[in-house]
Amino acid sequence: MRQRESVLHLRNMAKRIPRDSEKTLFPLHASLDELREASKTCKACDLWKLGTQTVFGEGLPTAKIMLVGEQPGNQEDLEGKPFVGPAGKLLDAALEEAGIDRKTVYVTNAVKHFKWEPRGKRRIHKKPNAAEIAACRPWLDAEIAALRPKIIVCLGATAAQALLGRDFRIAQHRGEFVKSTLAPHVMATVHPSSILRAPDEATREDEMKKFIVDLKKITQVH
Ligand code: URA
Repeated sequence: MRQRESVLHLRNMAKRIPRDSEKTLFPLHASLDELREASKTCKACDLWKLGTQTVFGEGLPTAKIMLVGEQPGNQEDLEGKPFVGPAGKLLDAALEEAGIDRKTVYVTNAVKHFKWEPRGKRRIHKKPNAAEIAACRPWLDAEIAALRPKIIVCLGATAAQALLGRDFRIAQHRGEFVKSTLAPHVMATVHPSSILRAPDEATREDEMKKFIVDLKKITQVH
């Protein structure tokens, strides 16, 4: 993102911060470390009451590639790091197959607190709603402004709709680079959890192959 576009983004971002969340305001041009620190006390929506902690993005501050998921899961919530649970393991394997070293990318989520509901002793993932996604969007915008990635990959519908609009459909545009002011190359593909949920082994293998094909496209523009 060029300097001017980046500043415009930050201005828009400031306008989008919900009125009751001044506590979460962060300085323009904040670094990723400053943002991570500021995000720890975010109360822009009620999800802070559910999650153990804010799970901010993580990765190389000079990364050219930014991967955006939906929200932290159970394990991410406990460890405070994105994509370290089962979906993260699958993502790591797919990145490796695609020739991308996870250590060289920046990984984050559209929503930074774990939304869940109890089922017995388990905490079951609950999809974040539009208000929660909007409340968290300033953090994502600030991460993009600080990192200025060359490539953004939205993993799943929540990330895609947060960054590319509510009408964006992964089924229609997966693996395509779409025009966006967010970064020179922006793409959406499936969420790794959807591969874990495949009904049988053959489907899972097939979905994994398609996911790797999408990720390999990154290496062609990288
Ligand atoms: N799913 C996500 O979208 N993000 C994580 O960090 C973990 C699981």
